[in-house]
Amino acid sequence: MCGIVGYVGARPSEDILLAGLARLEYRGYDSAGIAVIDEAGSLGSRKKAGKLQALRDSLAEHPLPDGTTGIGHTRWATHGGPTDANAHPHLADEDRLALIHNGIIENFAELRAELEADGVSFRSETDTEVAAALIGREYRRTGDLRTAFRAVVNRLEGAFTLLALHQDEPGLVVAARRNSPLVVGLGEGENFLGSDVAAFVEHTRRALAIGQDEIVAITPEAVVVTDFEGNAVESTPFEVSWDSAAAEKGGWPSFMAKEVAEQSEAVANTIRGRIKDSAVVIPELDGLDDLFRDVDRIIVTACGTAAYAAMVGKYAIEQWARVPVDVELAHEFRYRDPVIGERTLVVSISQSGETMDTLMAVKYARERGARTLSICNTQGATIPRESDAVVYTHAGPEVAVASTKAFVAQITALLLLGLHMGRVRGSLPAEESAAAVLELENLPAKIDDVLDAEQERVSQLAGWMADTRSVLFLGRHVGYPIALEGALKLKEISYIHAEGFAAGELKHGPIALIEPGQPVFVIVPSPRHSALLHAKVVSNIQEIRARGARVIVVAEEGDAAVLPFADEVIRIPLAGALFEPLLAVVPLQIFAMALATAKGLDVDQPRNLAKSVTVE
Ligand code: M6R
Repeated sequence: MCGIVGYVGARPSEDILLAGLARLEYRGYDSAGIAVIDEAGSLGSRKKAGKLQALRDSLAEHPLPDGTTGIGHTRWATHGGPTDANAHPHLADEDRLALIHNGIIENFAELRAELEADGVSFRSETDTEVAAALIGREYRRTGDLRTAFRAVVNRLEGAFTLLALHQDEPGLVVAARRNSPLVVGLGEGENFLGSDVAAFVEHTRRALAIGQDEIVAITPEAVVVTDFEGNAVESTPFEVSWDSAAAEKGGWPSFMAKEVAEQSEAVANTIRGRIKDSAVVIPELDGLDDLFRDVDRIIVTACGTAAYAAMVGKYAIEQWARVPVDVELAHEFRYRDPVIGERTLVVSISQSGETMDTLMAVKYARERGARTLSICNTQGATIPRESDAVVYTHAGPEVAVASTKAFVAQITALLLLGLHMGRVRGSLPAEESAAAVLELENLPAKIDDVLDAEQERVSQLAGWMADTRSVLFLGRHVGYPIALEGALKLKEISYIHAEGFAAGELKHGPIALIEPGQPVFVIVPSPRHSALLHAKVVSNIQEIRARGARVIVVAEEGDAAVLPFADEVIRIPLAGALFEPLLAVVPLQIFAMALATAKGLDVDQPRNLAKSVTVE
């Protein structure tokens, strides 16, 4: 978590840093701070607990002198609470060096003890100040920031991206990364650093991803990348595929509202270029046909919303490619002894491409000989770099902490993968493939239909339910992960207790929760695909209705069987069984968003959370 930004160039850096931090605030918003080397060559810094606005207010009241070299940080607290003192930057070498950090330094306690024994005193409870003090001590010995970094980084255990500047070396920012993200923005006479490209995309779309255990030094004219030993490293720049307008609210009340509305586009963009002659052909997977034919097991690993996308993907890949698929939460996966072999394909899913749990699962799988493929929404991110192959979702930047458009794009990518593998393995008849392709192509318009037809009514329903203390969600088959996702959305942004269940599990315990008035959303599968499954869900509805539940049904147009038992019916257009999740999730997202709004909550930045979870 935490967002970091750096700038060297000819322009005053404060505005550039603050604008970059505003775009990175989704990564954490417990405190924010900047450090700048001013024209007189002095280092000035300011940091404030709270959201970025608190820092802006402080700078407006007591401005810092202008400077053209600077670093900035927005924090998600790990070591030490969200106070001014624990905010970054942290200073060292008699306040002439400033350092910011994203990650966790696991051996900070022993390093701190060593420094204290050496007479160093600390002003914060953070692991970061320990790194600042170590680099400051080395700087006093060597007078060179790059050398000081090299001397320290190998002593640090855990995850870090560190950025530092020293007032004796104006026009230079040095950074190092291990297990945390770092990207360089390449400008003309200026260069940038950021946790992701959003930090600088309004200034340049040429970027360079910094690899694991690398150090980068930026000046206005040069970007020099080395490994931790100082050996030069070759890196290839890439072009960011979206512009800064894509990361603006653009008149919407929240990023989440904008991103919900962008879902049809996210699906359409993820499909584009991947259909040929009514079949799915994913160009990025060229050359992997032998692997796909040979694979005897797939493990899909992810966290949170991405893991629910994985659960939908399991149904599709098994149906079309006829390979067994297991879904594993990434943080559970590597703490046992999973059966992984050379014929195992591990597919990871991550919007950010930086989720530490998922990254570690990918590395673990590779070490054990599995082939790895990532589904990712962020160019230049770490997880795709650590994987053998990548299928990018093209949802565009997702800023709201609650994932919406990335989720539908992830399911789309998994459907594409299932169809691609089915074709390669010869397990998918051409007519079935062509019908599925047609379903895919029709999805974007159907998503818009749900928004047009149901947005107002679902929002109204949420407004009436603003005082609700608990909401349950039920589903079966691919409706089950959608029930889980509906509950997660509601929990994370409205702080209401919510749980998703497989509807068949109800009678094994959860039905005891039902009391008169308990709201329950039920995702009803189409009777056209399976009359049996549909009938089972309808009888689950009757069971909870008989116990007084207030039943809100999400069912396809024309399904009249649900009417006698539903208090509310939300309609979705007709779609193939494996495509229904992309429609059924939309009203649940709208419901969570509207309920959080009715409670006066910050929909984009819910408490205690950060968009990108880069700690384990
Ligand atoms: O960036 P990732 O897709 O790896 O993130 C995984 C989860 O942290 C993420 O989906 C999280 O559950 C969302 N905030 C849910 O809305």
